[in-house]
Parts: sequence; structure tokens; C-alpha cells
Amino acid sequence: MSARKSIVVLSGSGVSAESGLPTFRDANGLWRNHDWRELASPEGWRKHPELVLEFYNERRAAAWKAEPNGAHRAIAALEEMHNVVVVTQNVDALHERAGSTRVVHLHGELAYARGTSAKRHRVRLDGNPIALGDLCPDGTQLRPDIVWFGEPVPKLEEGMQHVMAASHLLVVGTSLLVYPAASLAELAPEACEKMVVALELERVPEGFTFRQGKATEQVPEIARKWASG
Ligand code: OAD
Repeated sequence: MSARKSIVVLSGSGVSAESGLPTFRDANGLWRNHDWRELASPEGWRKHPELVLEFYNERRAAAWKAEPNGAHRAIAALEEMHNVVVVTQNVDALHERAGSTRVVHLHGELAYARGTSAKRHRVRLDGNPIALGDLCPDGTQLRPDIVWFGEPVPKLEEGMQHVMAASHLLVVGTSLLVYPAASLAELAPEACEKMVVALELERVPEGFTFRQGKATEQVPEIARKWASG
């Protein structure tokens, strides 16, 4: 019997695209039709919280209705034979809903709200909306528990530790254009087997094998290979 591998999956919005959720920078991506400064920044929240809440309420409802796809399921199934950690930039819960048990959300989670005081009190929403006037137990307005541009990434260190200990790293569905998340791909040990799956990529990071194509086609193939070999 072969030893358990330490597999890390670094995922982005492309892994959920075939579940019907939009990416950010592809044609028709969210940031092609919306200004991230208005919707995903502390400045936007101060200026018009109602617009920000509406944007995330819509995204939460869509993410709640979406179903995990074959890529999410293939990643989850790898846990039967190997140690797997998913470090995701995604704010949907499709990895967990496919069965992945160790998921680090670098950019927060749509399924939660948090208070706006330093206590960061979290409230579980699942698919439900946040309204202006909805308060958390410390009396502050609830906001989406999402990491906006210009905000610290509290789970970054945890993600780094996982990548630095990986024997196998699969990067899937991310343009690798948003830092610091993208920098994680550069931290894997030299001996780690590194694969990257995307429809398009501006730059293939050093040491990676690029599998160009859909996540639902490429990921199950890679998972089969890693499950057996
Ligand atoms: P991008 O929109 O920047 O990149 C999506 C990537 O997924 C591209 O490389 C596509 O080629 C690829 N892709 C699209 N459909 C695919 C499919 N069916 N199969 C495989 N690959 C596919 O999205 P992210 O890299 O996720 O942050 O964006 C990173 C961060 O930017 C997000 O977490 C978000 C955004 O601003 C915050 O909101 C804080």
C-alpha cells in the first residue's frame, strides 16, 4: 500500500464556473460588469452599504442554489486515500458541500456575516440575506464575512503552512493575479509535484505542469493519477 500523500489544492473561481457561478476576470466575469472599488472595498462599504449588501446577497443566494461539480467531487474523494487540504480563494461552500473536510477560505465565506467591531463576531447565514439594521450580538451592523481589497488576509499564514508542507499541489481555476493569495503557488517545496488547471493563464508559475482545459475534465484525471500513483 502506498503512503498517504500530502495534497494541497489551491482553488479559485474557475473551479465553480461549471456549477454556474461567475469568475471575476474572464469575459462576463464579475469585475468586468461591476466596479470592485464600489463593492469589494472598505471605502465602498462606507459609501453605500446597501449596494454592497445587495451585491453579496445576490451572490450568496446564487451560491446557495449552485451544486458542486465533478471537480469539487474529485478533490473531496481524494481524502479517502490521502491527506488533502483545500486552500481556496472562493467564498462559496461548494468544496465543503462536495465532501471536503479541510477547507481554508482565504477570502472569507458568503455563508457567514460578521459584526463591524474589532470583536468580529460571526453569524451563520447559509443562504439568507443581510439587511441594513441587522445587528450582531455586540450591537454592530452585520457585513459579509468577506475579505475585501485592502483588508488583511487572516488565513494567509495557515494557507502558507499547508503549501510549504505539500508533496502534491494542484492549482485550479485561478488567474493567479490577486496577491497575496497568488504568492502561495510559489511556496511549494521543489520536490512537490505541481499542476495547474485553467482555461487560460497569463503566466504558468515556475515548476508547474499546465493542463489547459475545464476543471471538470482535468481535475478528475489528475485525481485519478494521484489516487493511484
Ligand atoms: P479570475 O476570474 O481572476 O480567474 C479565473 C480563472 O479560472 C482563469 O484562469 C480562467 O481561465 C479559469 N477558468 C474559468 N473557467 C474555468 C473552468 N471551467 N475550468 C477551469 N478553469 C477555469 O478569478 P480568481 O483567480 O478566482 O477576491 O480571482 C481571485 C480573486 O479575485 C477572488 O477570490 C476575488 C477576486 O477579486 C475577492 O473578492 C477578495
